[in-house]
Amino acid sequence: MTTTPHVNADADTLAARLEEARRDYADLLGKGLSLDLSRGKPSLRQLDLSAELLRLPGDRYTAADGTDCRNYGAPNGLLELREIFAEFLQVPVDQLLAAGNSSLELMHDCLIYALIGKLPGATRRWADEERVALLCPTPGYDRHFELCERLGIEMIPVPLTAEGPDLDLVESLVAADPGIKGIWCMPKYSNPDGTCYSDETVRRLAAMPTAAPDFRILWDDAYAVHHLTDEEVTVPDVLAACAEAGNPDRAFVFGSTSKITFAGSGVAFFGSSPANVAWLRSYSGKRSIGPDKVNQLRHALFLKDADGLREHMRRHRALLRPKFDAVLRIFDEELRETGLATWSTPKGGYFVALNVPDGCAREVVRRAAEAGLVLTPAGATHPYREDPQDNVIRIGPSYPELAEVEQIISGVAVCVRLVGYEKLAAEQN
Ligand SMILES: Cc1ncc(COP(=O)(O)O)c(C=O)c1O
Repeated sequence: MTTTPHVNADADTLAARLEEARRDYADLLGKGLSLDLSRGKPSLRQLDLSAELLRLPGDRYTAADGTDCRNYGAPNGLLELREIFAEFLQVPVDQLLAAGNSSLELMHDCLIYALIGKLPGATRRWADEERVALLCPTPGYDRHFELCERLGIEMIPVPLTAEGPDLDLVESLVAADPGIKGIWCMPKYSNPDGTCYSDETVRRLAAMPTAAPDFRILWDDAYAVHHLTDEEVTVPDVLAACAEAGNPDRAFVFGSTSKITFAGSGVAFFGSSPANVAWLRSYSGKRSIGPDKVNQLRHALFLKDADGLREHMRRHRALLRPKFDAVLRIFDEELRETGLATWSTPKGGYFVALNVPDGCAREVVRRAAEAGLVLTPAGATHPYREDPQDNVIRIGPSYPELAEVEQIISGVAVCVRLVGYEKLAAEQN
């Protein structure tokens, strides 16, 4: 969560600042940069941390319980890998599936199966409903939104607060509208502003009355173990909270190793109530005879156990932290006194959310692109790519080398000053 920027300057000061920003922007253009900060991918050095995976499982192919990973079988995925992740994703191991290479794919499949077949607790298939809508806390993850758009699922934005989605609003919407079938949630180190859900948020989400009997919390725990500080944030166990509140089937938990080992060549997980797991398996078991257990074995051998995973994530943190520190330091040095921007200070995850004056985000991204700095398109953080205030920019510093991150962020700060002062000057005239 960030706060709204605020500027206080008289006309002369403003004119001088605009002049300076124009000079700095001309210098930036003169540098002929070509740098890309548009996606939050692991860097090459982060990928190298998992290089051993390329040599595993070697000539070994037997899982701990004797399963031959070369063959069909173990449709729920390898037990030893599920055991490692059960603790972090807060899912009992027998309710946790280790699946394919992408959690987004699992989210897609769950939505498709809810459309074409009845969810536990549903009176009919979503495809037979007059309207299917999901609440979308914003700013949020563009691919969640694109998925909804592609499947014809209506998106209703709700603001994200420092504690999670605005629960007063969420509760009133879901209580009144049976067309609202669920809510996207990124409970820890949310993409893009790093928000972590409070205990109260989880409790209320689990307990709130919903007009839809088949309401689902789509709990995308993509950054469950991706800490950037010593404070390893914990968020309450959503499945337990739902069960305690008498809504055992309310939450679908998703996670993956995409930003732990190899992005796109890792293992994805699904966890939920026994009824939901059986429901998903009734479809996924028809779609595929079983997951890639050789890859799962490779991951289990590499990570070893929960402590092995913790240790591995500390190595990621050592590579990521200096980049996040650089972003925050440069914003602080270049922008704090201007009052033109505020930004999130995440304790984990992959992103910083930069808030610029209303109506300026697209223009900042455009000016940055002109200077050879590719940022995530403004609007991507909102449903239908429409940020009504046009003020949020997602900053993902993981991929470029540190020196490049510094160059890009300094350039972004110049663009924020240029566009922000241009707007203020226009308003004064
Ligand atoms: C919140 C969130 N969920 C899911 C994903 C994608 O995960 P996967 O690679 O497991 O599909 C990402 C990737 O950036 C993400 O930020």
